[in-house]
Amino acid sequence: MCSVLFCDVVGFTPLSEAQDPEAVRELLSRYFGVARTVIGRYGGVVEKFIGDAVMAVWGTPVASEGDAERTVRAALDLVSAVAAMGAEAGVPELAARVGVVTGEVAVTLGAVGEGMVAGDAVNTAARVQSAAEPGQVLTDAATQRLAGTAVGFADAGEHRLKGKAEPVRLWRATRVLSAVGGVQRVDGLEVPLTGRDAELRTIRELFHAAADRRVPRLVLVSGPAGVGKSRLGWEFEKYADGLVEDIWWHRGRCLSYGEGVVFWALAEIVRQRLGIAEEDSAEGAAGKLAAGVDRFVADPGERAYVGVRLGRLLGVAFGGDGGAALSREELFAGWRLFFERLAAVQPVVLLIEDAQYADTGLLDFLDHLIDWSRDLPVYVLVFARPELGQARSGFGAGRNRITLTLDPLDPTSVDQLVDALVPGMPVAARAAISGQAQGVPLFMVETVRSLIDRDIVQPVEGVYQLTGDIGELAVPDSLHALLAARLDALDPDVRRLVADAAVLGTTFPVEALIAVSGRDEDAVRTALTDLVRREVLSVSADPLSPERGSYQFAQEMLRQVAYDTLSRRDRKTRHLAVAAHLRTAFAGDGEEMADVIARHYLDALHAVPNDPDTAQIRGQAITALIRAAERAQRTGAPAQAATSYAAAAAELTLTDIAAGPPDAADEPSHAGMLWERAAQSAAAAADFTAAVRHADHAHDYYRKLGQDRTAARTQAVAGRALRIWGRHGEARERLTAAVKVLRADPDTDTVRALEELATLEVFAGSPDADRLTAEALILGQALGVGSEQLAGLFLTRGIYLCTAGRRPEGVAFFREGARLATQSGDNIIVGRALLNLSDGLASMDPAAAAEAARTAATHLRRAGARDLLAAAITNLVQALLLLGDWDAAQAEFDQALGPDGLADDYLTTNLGWLMALRGDAATAGTLLADLRDLRASEDLQDKSLISVVEAFTAAARRQPEDALSHARGAGLCGRPGDKLRDLALGLAAGRARRLRAAGHRRYPS
Ligand SMILES: Nc1ncnc2c1ncn2[C@@H]1O[C@H](COP(=O)(O)OP(=O)(O)OP(=O)(O)O)[C@@H](O)[C@H]1O
Ligand SMILES: [Mg+2]
Repeated sequence: MCSVLFCDVVGFTPLSEAQDPEAVRELLSRYFGVARTVIGRYGGVVEKFIGDAVMAVWGTPVASEGDAERTVRAALDLVSAVAAMGAEAGVPELAARVGVVTGEVAVTLGAVGEGMVAGDAVNTAARVQSAAEPGQVLTDAATQRLAGTAVGFADAGEHRLKGKAEPVRLWRATRVLSAVGGVQRVDGLEVPLTGRDAELRTIRELFHAAADRRVPRLVLVSGPAGVGKSRLGWEFEKYADGLVEDIWWHRGRCLSYGEGVVFWALAEIVRQRLGIAEEDSAEGAAGKLAAGVDRFVADPGERAYVGVRLGRLLGVAFGGDGGAALSREELFAGWRLFFERLAAVQPVVLLIEDAQYADTGLLDFLDHLIDWSRDLPVYVLVFARPELGQARSGFGAGRNRITLTLDPLDPTSVDQLVDALVPGMPVAARAAISGQAQGVPLFMVETVRSLIDRDIVQPVEGVYQLTGDIGELAVPDSLHALLAARLDALDPDVRRLVADAAVLGTTFPVEALIAVSGRDEDAVRTALTDLVRREVLSVSADPLSPERGSYQFAQEMLRQVAYDTLSRRDRKTRHLAVAAHLRTAFAGDGEEMADVIARHYLDALHAVPNDPDTAQIRGQAITALIRAAERAQRTGAPAQAATSYAAAAAELTLTDIAAGPPDAADEPSHAGMLWERAAQSAAAAADFTAAVRHADHAHDYYRKLGQDRTAARTQAVAGRALRIWGRHGEARERLTAAVKVLRADPDTDTVRALEELATLEVFAGSPDADRLTAEALILGQALGVGSEQLAGLFLTRGIYLCTAGRRPEGVAFFREGARLATQSGDNIIVGRALLNLSDGLASMDPAAAAEAARTAATHLRRAGARDLLAAAITNLVQALLLLGDWDAAQAEFDQALGPDGLADDYLTTNLGWLMALRGDAATAGTLLADLRDLRASEDLQDKSLISVVEAFTAAARRQPEDALSHARGAGLCGRPGDKLRDLALGLAAGRARRLRAAGHRRYPS
């Protein structure tokens, strides 16, 4: 990312006409000289002069932090320099106007001068410039955001710029507000210090040790950018401020761009002590220096010695300085004496920020100060990024020195911090932000700031709240430069390798990088070692095969930024290379990695969408997605299968609707079939919202092709999902419509739709249940459907029979269903059959019921059918509760809610029951209160279950009236012969009796 400055001078043209050409040329060349100097001073590179315009860039060839800010500072300087030049030359109408834009530009590596950069930012800068009034600096929003901490901006409104479809909001830079980088931002995103108690305590105690024992002490606080060094310093400052003891407090900052200013931070510190402002005139400064020396150096004999040396440091005249050269030792001695004289009065604190940029002179002086000061309370606190260790190893070690390393925050503190920034953030969103930030507070703060910029986080009654979907998190602009600077510090070769690695993902094996980069193994391994040393990557050894260890980006954001440095075309070639590599590196054309391969094809596709080979790549992507989906289905990961099927369908929908009706309707070769499979998988994964959505896509697809019968089939899929979801009304609507179409010329699809509708009506207690379950079974037998489908029909009929009070008959149907299911070998259908068998047996033989449920759970766990698994476990725990085996039930709950990760209303309700039985009414009450879907269910069995648990909870609370009314409710909606209902009725009767007894006592008649 670069910042581009475009400066034009107005007032030349009339001048060129009126004045003699010689004078104009003179002035023009002076202007170019001024521009070059100003731009150079702020670290910019002049790209070219075009007529009387100048274009300059920051951030190339090497980006560094604060590029945008420096560009704006340069722009402001340039405007005033041109005005001054005009005034001097007697051309007061001479004025510069400047446009600054920050964005991606294409950089020709190795080119110098003209032609280095090209891209949208360059053109836009020229347009922004032309929108500026003479004497103004206008910038785009990105620049304003980046430089806004240190420079004041005014909203300059929206402007139509040539070549831009939409009006663009521009900002006018007004003045420089603060020192480099801004000091402390005030935008409400300052949160309480989190997770640094130990570090802060250490810093405080070391200070007191230095002050009390009068020993100089240097503490180096080292840690990566944004980890919270300055914040720690600030907290310490607040603490020190509150102490009764007075302290000479100083803060100095090292500049990231030297301008050759050695001892900058030290000079800043001395100026603070003497009260000299940067804008003070030479005489003013000299006066303050003299006064300060008089004040702080008590011994008149030492004043000249100290004053001369401080004067040299500040570039301020001191009376009596003969101008003779002074050695470094001489200077150090004078400066040290100054601090010693201060420390003789009260403790001296020197806080040095950003010491990774410090010149060696400054570090030498700090060492000198610590080594030579005796019996004086001098506390030097140095904050630096780890680079300091590379530039100057050993700094911060030795006598009276301590190094404190700040690591990223621990996960608990991270959660606390995100919560403090945006209270009540949902867990998933919070996890996304923490994952992106990886323990670095700055990354968290800036990520939240970028959400505020996108209006996804908004202030609601004075508190920031998440008001939208955070979607894909990108690297915030404000961090881009910071991270890009880290990459730019690498050798170009290594940098390219990092970009290759970024395509591979956050974690990657060496082999893949070798294959994709096309470089030889030794070179890659050497570079990787270097990158680990620089903390760009870290190694994660594979415990199974250590020599195959893989590498990992130290920060995910760093990977994203590295990825962004690739041009779209480079991304495409690399993604294709990775896909090809994976297909050869893994058996069966990359079988195991199908979804990763698919993702690389998709990324390649989206990198350059309009290439001639798009169709081919899309085909490869779709093939890989379907393989991934089928594999996921086989391995019991229906949620993943649904995602992959849907992705494949979405890609196909783009191309094949025009291709006409599919010929083999059951092959997953067209979008309709893929949507349908996605819907089925989603339903199996209990993601009903997605299931209905996918089924609707399939429906639309077939309707567009005029295939109403197939469309009806997909309606049945949606209907089934809605039924399982408990949304009976909508389910009935869809299923009835589907059955209506499918009854004509019946086939297996008809049987399936009928079966769903029949099931629905059974559970709804509808009078149609008898007729529909019988019809489905008769039709299925007549058509000779497979054992799997037939098993299902037996189950449905069996369930009906149980609900109709014909339980032994129902159990017989279940037994036959289970037998047929086992024949079919499908885990899900076997599970379902046994699940129902357990249900049917529950009231007659709880032990046999538990056994059936346990076997069902085994099958369903294997198939990954979460909704059914939850039901099987529910049956199992209910049977166990009926058997009185609470501990076994508890163990099943633990497994289901723990490792199985099932969050299911039925389970919750039954757990509530167990808690109520155990007398823990509070937990039972909380569990009941947390129910969502089940409360709204129209199913009688569901209502009855909730009432039973409520009855037991009320009983545990010793509220017999409530227990009675809930138990009666359960009895009303349960079915005769239902064990739960009987229990509830029993409870109701018992409570009623007790109530009567209590009533007698309380209300003697
Ligand atoms: N422990 C913490 N609790 C709460 N906020 C924190 C914490 N540490 C840092 N922050 C916040 O994170 C942001 C970045 O921290 P800070 O500026 O101290 O980082 P730094 O280590 O000095 O980075 P740099 O190397 O860039 O100077 C600040 O807004 C700061 O207030
Ligand atoms: Mg800092």
